[in-house]
This record gives sequence, C-alpha cells and structure tokens, in this order.
Amino acid sequence: LATTTIDLSPIEPGMQMVALWQEKPVIVVNRTPEMLATLDEAEQKGILKDPNCNVPQQPPYCKNKYRSRVPEWYVGIKICNHLCCIPHYRPKKASVAPWWLGGFHCPCHGSMYDLSARVIKGSPAPHNMAVPEYDIDVAKKTVVV
Ligand code: FES
Repeated sequence: LATTTIDLSPIEPGMQMVALWQEKPVIVVNRTPEMLATLDEAEQKGILKDPNCNVPQQPPYCKNKYRSRVPEWYVGIKICNHLCCIPHYRPKKASVAPWWLGGFHCPCHGSMYDLSARVIKGSPAPHNMAVPEYDIDVAKKTVVV
C-alpha cells in the first residue's frame, strides 16, 4: 500500500496539519505540555466513553493515554467514528462548552473527542477515532503513514 510522508517542521506547538493518505484525512497535532495535561484531566473527570480503546485493528500505541508513539505528536485518521464526518479541531479550553478541555468536535451530530481523539461520554460515536500504522522520526521531523 502507498505511504505518505508528512513534514513536521511547519507545525508549530498547538497547531495541526492534515494530509491525505489513501484518500483519508490524517491529522498531525503538535501537542504542548498544557494540551497533554488535559488528557489526565479527562481521565480524572471520568468523561471518556471508550477509555480502553476498543477500536478494532488498531496498533498497540493507540492504547496508551497519548494514543501515539511520541506524546507531543498525535497522528490519527480525522474521521468521526459515528457516521464518518470530519470533526473540527478545537484545541482551546471552553471553546465548545464551558467544561471543554480541548479536542475535536464533529459538526454533524455533535460527537466530542479529547486531544487524543478519545470519544467523550454523551457523544453518538461509539469509539475513539482511529490511529493508523505509522513511523515517526522526531530528529528528522517526519512521519510516514
Ligand atoms: Fe460525527 Fe455523527 S458523524 S457525530
């Protein structure tokens, strides 16, 4: 299968980039320490709907809190697990609701995901968003999906 190489160097802390891989949008987010701290907050508040990541056929590194190989860099398929809309990136706290910690919000039926694309309780989506198989080279600033 064809691979896509994504250059990480233009992605500033807190920003995202979307690339196409096998006709699917792949999002790469450069997460700041503040953004990573919200992942603990989501767990402590018990708001995760799929905390054990029961998405079928996922790589082992989708099971950790960061759902990534390198905590700072989230790489995922940006497709809502409900009916396949493209969620919006909403990294700022309280930007979607007063309790919002930052994450992804689906415009179609309101599914909500944290900054590891873990689905939040009350969302129609049943599972976290999918993570592809990839390799990352932080020194060379590349991801190969
Ligand atoms: Fe995203 Fe329905 S497609 S909430």
